[in-house]
Amino acid sequence: MPKLKTMTLEWTGDSVVFVDQRKLPLEEVYVRCTTHEETFAAIKDMIVRGAPAIGASAAFGYVLGAKEFDGNLNSDEGIRYMESVKERLASSRPTAVNLFWALDRMHKKFLNRLSSENIIDILEEEALTIAHEDIEVNKAIGKYGAELLRDGDTVLTHCNAGALATVDYGTALGVIRAAVEAGKKISVYADETRPYLQGARLTAWELMKDGIDVTLISDNMAGWVMSQGKINAVVVGADRIAANGDVANKIGTYSVAVLAQRHGIPFYVAAPLSTIDLLTPTGKEIPIEERSHKEITHVQGMQVAPNNVKCYNPAFDVTPWNLITGIITEKGVVRPPYDVTLKKLFD
Ligand code: MRU
Repeated sequence: MPKLKTMTLEWTGDSVVFVDQRKLPLEEVYVRCTTHEETFAAIKDMIVRGAPAIGASAAFGYVLGAKEFDGNLNSDEGIRYMESVKERLASSRPTAVNLFWALDRMHKKFLNRLSSENIIDILEEEALTIAHEDIEVNKAIGKYGAELLRDGDTVLTHCNAGALATVDYGTALGVIRAAVEAGKKISVYADETRPYLQGARLTAWELMKDGIDVTLISDNMAGWVMSQGKINAVVVGADRIAANGDVANKIGTYSVAVLAQRHGIPFYVAAPLSTIDLLTPTGKEIPIEERSHKEITHVQGMQVAPNNVKCYNPAFDVTPWNLITGIITEKGVVRPPYDVTLKKLFD
């Protein structure tokens, strides 16, 4: 009997199983990780992706690491070993702060309860709590965000901030789901999200599965679609929100925000408090992951660019706070000045 099972992941007690998001929507293949190293690889290789999803996954990876240890965890050696598990998992991806947030929470629990006989059970419980909380938090984000959408609205979204990017329900797609559940008719335009195609492969698939009206466009169409008056609001997720309200999210988000401002369309970011990083003052300090050039030169394995062409492949960009109409969190919607309103959320 799994202890937790969603579209994104399953925790069985001695393994974490992921739907391989690299293969969706054409194939539904599952990958089982029984060690923290396998979990590290699943995050790094984007079998599982999306900020809250990788946070929860790393928490389960941490539990697997503890189970792997052949000795007394309540010893200098045990503590050093768990530090190395934490560091290994933290090195899988650099931008989404939820990864570090979840690992810090797990490690704190470990250090606080070190002397407990059932430390492994305590850690498993903590990872399950992180995962269950994520679902509840997304539902709360959805509830607050749904109030911003009117019956009949069409929403543009970028990347995948859906059930697959979280433990379940989603942040940006959670807002859309909640509005639909509240009886509103909502249509969605999904950017395909080059180069990794999370919009085409995952967002379109998720929304169609739920029977929510979705139209797929390539990224370069967003401006034209907005100019035609087809979009009432933009809702995206986030990988890290700096203390001043600058938002790192999937590459292309910044362009969408600029276009939204040009067309007078509200631009909302939906994210949990675990994505807000008050220790990072502005977007300039957010580390931006750069990924393989092959993601640009090849489309689904087929080469589309000349051999040895020079490439630049940042996986995220930063949208400055002044392009963001509101940030939808589980504690409500905050608006500028974000350096004040974000801090208040943690009071
Ligand atoms: O590289 P990815 O697919 O992990 O990037 C995901 C995104 O940028 C999402 O929009 C973000 O994590 C928000 S998920 C609720």
